[in-house]
Amino acid sequence: MAVTKGVLERYREFLPITAKTPMITLGEGDTPLVRSRQIEKEFGCELYFKLEGCNPTGSFKDRGMVVAVAKAVEGGSRAIICASTGNTSASAAAYGAGFGLSTFVIVPQGGIALGKMAQAVVYGARIIAIDGSFDQALSLVRTLSQKHPVTVVNSINPYRLEGQKTAAFEIVDALGDAPDYLFIPVGNAGNITAYWRGFVEYHGAGKAKSTPRMMGFQAEGSAPIVQGKVIEEPKTIASAIRIGNPASWEGAVAARDESGGLIDLVTDDEILSAYRLLAREEGIFGEPASAASVAGLIKVARQGISLKGKKVVCIITGAGLKDPDTAIKDAEPPIELAAELSAIEQALDLS
Ligand code: F0G
Repeated sequence: MAVTKGVLERYREFLPITAKTPMITLGEGDTPLVRSRQIEKEFGCELYFKLEGCNPTGSFKDRGMVVAVAKAVEGGSRAIICASTGNTSASAAAYGAGFGLSTFVIVPQGGIALGKMAQAVVYGARIIAIDGSFDQALSLVRTLSQKHPVTVVNSINPYRLEGQKTAAFEIVDALGDAPDYLFIPVGNAGNITAYWRGFVEYHGAGKAKSTPRMMGFQAEGSAPIVQGKVIEEPKTIASAIRIGNPASWEGAVAARDESGGLIDLVTDDEILSAYRLLAREEGIFGEPASAASVAGLIKVARQGISLKGKKVVCIITGAGLKDPDTAIKDAEPPIELAAELSAIEQALDLS
């Protein structure tokens, strides 16, 4: 097996790389595209899951972060900063640590999942938890970066979306063409914007014959694009997409309209049931926000959009282990027994 290449090297012709760009990697990209065994049967489609939780910090953010950090290093930056619902901060902290930059992260207090906080801590980021929302954190980050020599690595940094578009390239490379539909969770709306850019660029380069309909899903209590207004106090169990004023709002709307897709909402109950379904029927443990893509697929299929015979990809944006609290919150506790064969056999109905 060869040494890992990473996104910069694999897709260099499509990325803003110069002779001075350091070709760094932590092993991001090249994530699995796994065929569904169960869920697709109900809808008669050819369904695939893109497992972005298999990136080095467990989410798709690494694809964009590697480009943003390489460009920050190239430009002589010493420090990076981001606001985050958890995954961006985990990724920034990892790439900052790996490539010699100080990392500052600003997160909503109590608003980020335990695993993500653990990552920022272990990678050595300086973490500020504000008594406020992600949207407020991002606004503070914008101001701080104007006043101080720190590079913002939120998706308002254009290099982030450049890196994230490589996931669309991988899907086309794997399937031989674009799928008919792409289902994706929407929070700050950078990822849907980046995927659409990737599909359009690959199509333009003659690497794909078609482009997919982009099907974006926000959580019901955090659905500013669907409702057409900023949500001051966004709410949802899916903390990653608890965002009321997405930075890439316009990009998401353009992706929707140019692709003939839609942006809709799913309830927390729909998200949680898709989260469990994905784990129990497919063996895939995504974080709750990731399950919004599957919840969206189920919603539109049940509403009557026929997916029969179509190629469909759901993006599983982050790993389930990021958020152990949600995983075990409503779970039955394990059965506690003495270390005795017969008692265990009885409890497992093996007797
Ligand atoms: N899924 C996961 C697991 C995420 O972490 C995010 C965003 C999204 C989906 C939505 O993607 O923002 O590009 O529309 N997380 C950001 C963060 C906001 O700070 O980690 P988006």
